[in-house]
Amino acid sequence: MRSEFDLAPSLIYLNAGTQSIAPRVVNEAVARHQRAYETNPTAGLVGSRDRIWRVQSRLARFFGGDPVDFFLRPNVTAALNQFILGAPLERGGEILATELEYGAIVNACRFRAEREGRKLRELAIPAGAADLADIVVSGLRPDTRMLLLSHVVSTTGLRFPLREIARETRRRGVTLVVDGAHAPGAFPLDFGELGDVDFYGGNLHKWMMGPKGTGFGWANKRHHDALVPLAAGWTTYPSLEPYPEYAGGNRFAARMLMLGCHDFAPYYAIDDTLDFWERVGPAAIHARIYELTREIETSVGERLGWPCVTPTSLAPPWELSGPMRTYELPERLAMEGFALMRRLHDTRGLQVAIFNLKGRWLMRLSAHVCNNENEIHRAASILADLV
Ligand SMILES: Cc1ncc(COP(=O)(O)O)c(C=O)c1O
Repeated sequence: MRSEFDLAPSLIYLNAGTQSIAPRVVNEAVARHQRAYETNPTAGLVGSRDRIWRVQSRLARFFGGDPVDFFLRPNVTAALNQFILGAPLERGGEILATELEYGAIVNACRFRAEREGRKLRELAIPAGAADLADIVVSGLRPDTRMLLLSHVVSTTGLRFPLREIARETRRRGVTLVVDGAHAPGAFPLDFGELGDVDFYGGNLHKWMMGPKGTGFGWANKRHHDALVPLAAGWTTYPSLEPYPEYAGGNRFAARMLMLGCHDFAPYYAIDDTLDFWERVGPAAIHARIYELTREIETSVGERLGWPCVTPTSLAPPWELSGPMRTYELPERLAMEGFALMRRLHDTRGLQVAIFNLKGRWLMRLSAHVCNNENEIHRAASILADLV
């Protein structure tokens, strides 16, 4: 696997959770698509819709979904903004977000709540709670209009039981927006099983190892007519030649298409990313990710003895958490805060994620198929050395 990636020899990169290192074939494909476009940008632009639709269709099939339910965006923030700001909601009431949601996406909820005079409420999720579905569902109130829920929480790696929660939000008429930043590529994801979810946003530049600047949105068909696009352009209404109708004339897919001229190369390279996944095999990639995650647990977690805040009962491995392991920093290191992340990188060549969650300083380690056990052992030694 390692020969598939351009790795900096002096760096141990254990932060696939923020953005994973893309395989060389993916990065080369972006450059190739860009060069090909430049040979005739006019023809490139005219042909772009057909190509984007083909990529979108293949991506949808990869995730067991219907292509017309998907749209491409540069990142999950853009996709989730579309849902949080564009979903029709009954007047008044509250937007609910768990206390573990990603700040940027909570801000999108706050933006809508403030604009429309709604309340934004934070739902506490007690550490180590066993019945997450119950906790979330019992947090819903009669005036809850929208729930923002991460599929996998970015700080702790906790995975919410999505289908159970979605069954209840649907029954109660609460719009469920799922932040799937950390799910696609981390474990099998099948939109055929998510019929009760209303809206889902995912990133491709995290666990899918896709080109930087790629993500997607998925909207349940029952909302296609009512979802309000955030902006308008050519495809908002049926358009004239020379462009073909997008998605065979499907109005939702057309309205959600990215607007105007773009650098389409990263989106075209989603195709090459899927080639990579199909060549190596999704089952093999997922198995390897979890093998490395277990290695983090034993080599770093057990050796250092720092409290692990990720639920880690691993049978099967992806039920309670995504492939990230997060540890509470010992007091002396916690005092350094974010500066520790830079120090580890600058002086020891180790890239991790460090953040503060409700006053606690945490270190998150996440490995992908470009990593190996040796790197994880070296990371453990570097961290042990610090204390
Ligand atoms: C849970 C979660 N949501 C949203 C995002 C935002 O991702 P992006 O900046 O690619 O839109 C992140 C990024 O780490 C995340 O962890």
